[in-house]
Amino acid sequence: MRRAFVNASAVVCGPATGGPVRHPTIDHLGIRTGVGVGIEDGKVGLIASDDDLREWVGQRDGGTAGRESVRPPVPPSPGPPILDCDGRLITPGLVDAHTHAVFGRPRLEDQARRARGEDYKAIAAAGGGILSSVADFRSRGEDELVRLTTNRLAQVAALGSTTIEVKSGYGLALEHELKALRVIRRVAEALPVTLVPTFLGAHEVPAEFRTRRDAYVRLVVEEMLPVVAREGLARFCDIFCEPGVFALDESETVLAAAKAVGLRTKLHADELDSAGGAELAARLGAASADHLGAVSARGVDALAASETVAVLLPGTLTFLGKSKQAPARALLEAGAVVALATDFNPGSSPTGNLPLILALAVSQARMQPAEAFIAATVNGACAAGEGASRGRLVAGGPADLAIWNCRDVRELSYWYGMPLAWQVYAAGRPCHGLSGGISSAGSGAEPLSPRIS
Ligand code: NIG
Ligand code: FE
Repeated sequence: MRRAFVNASAVVCGPATGGPVRHPTIDHLGIRTGVGVGIEDGKVGLIASDDDLREWVGQRDGGTAGRESVRPPVPPSPGPPILDCDGRLITPGLVDAHTHAVFGRPRLEDQARRARGEDYKAIAAAGGGILSSVADFRSRGEDELVRLTTNRLAQVAALGSTTIEVKSGYGLALEHELKALRVIRRVAEALPVTLVPTFLGAHEVPAEFRTRRDAYVRLVVEEMLPVVAREGLARFCDIFCEPGVFALDESETVLAAAKAVGLRTKLHADELDSAGGAELAARLGAASADHLGAVSARGVDALAASETVAVLLPGTLTFLGKSKQAPARALLEAGAVVALATDFNPGSSPTGNLPLILALAVSQARMQPAEAFIAATVNGACAAGEGASRGRLVAGGPADLAIWNCRDVRELSYWYGMPLAWQVYAAGRPCHGLSGGISSAGSGAEPLSPRIS
């Protein structure tokens, strides 16, 4: 069925061609006024004037049909053929290129301990940190994790993200890592969004391997990676390359093995301490180097000279109470491909709100709004291996789009934490109104929010 979104303040189409954008400016945003978007069979049919769109859907007089869709029934129907956006902004659906969305319980004690001044080590010693999420994750069944993750990612989609990279990494044993990846596959079947699965078996050394870390690296390389690849459960392999977690040589071993079984690679690199993770990512031709809170000047240059996307996660450093951010300006000015993501996880970034991250990127990391928008669309798509088709609105491309409660693209990184997304579609299917709670497995309707500018 053909549908048209009309009466928009503007349509932000993104760059005319796919692929990474270096040195982004407002000119790369492809902002068009006086047009709306027509979709058909999950694809963008045309971007044209409202009159042309009405003709295209075979309904010259759109009337007030669109107004009635403001409160769709639950589950949402595809809606009427003409949707009146009432002066709202239309953009491509956002791309969240880094999440750890498959987890069990939130780590509320870690946050309270941090507020008391306890550091990472003290929190881990007190039974918190990644390994506490691992113990919790292992105790839960696959169906429960599917329910939790579906609810969380439905909320994330309703906030504006239509492509979401999701990592395993709280299993750290073959059986539980496979469980995490199967959860991602099942959630991808349940939701209209595109999920990009990443194997992160090397997220931490599990407690039972503390005194024999070499054996854990061998387990990842020799047992986990071959099965993950054979079963087609992941597109990427990631590793937490950080002093005190996995060293450079261990990271190289794991990522070389990942490439050998046909996976693309990513690194959590130089998150808290600089150890050459960014340089390694560039040298290995990794799709992305993520975090980069402590990247060296040499690491910045190495990334700028490479195709590796620098994925910045300003929400994480903010939530952890750090005063320093990754050097976004240095990376942008050196010509690196910069993306932004939420890092959605129970320890260091319990949010899937990508517009909030854009606001933090502008206010804390001194990115310009246009740079932040490109970072959360086309450049995020490149980091997620979807650079050819996602993060842009183009006739013939996927009908992944968000309609926002504001009029100007700069407002997406301005109204921080406000309910900005009005309606969100992935492959032409509605993402708003799908979700239940985020910390329990409820279900219910998401009320649609009014315009705020
Ligand atoms: O990206 N740095 C490693 N992993 C996560 C934190 C995961 C956790 O604390 O559970 C991150 O910040
Ligand atoms: Fe992460």
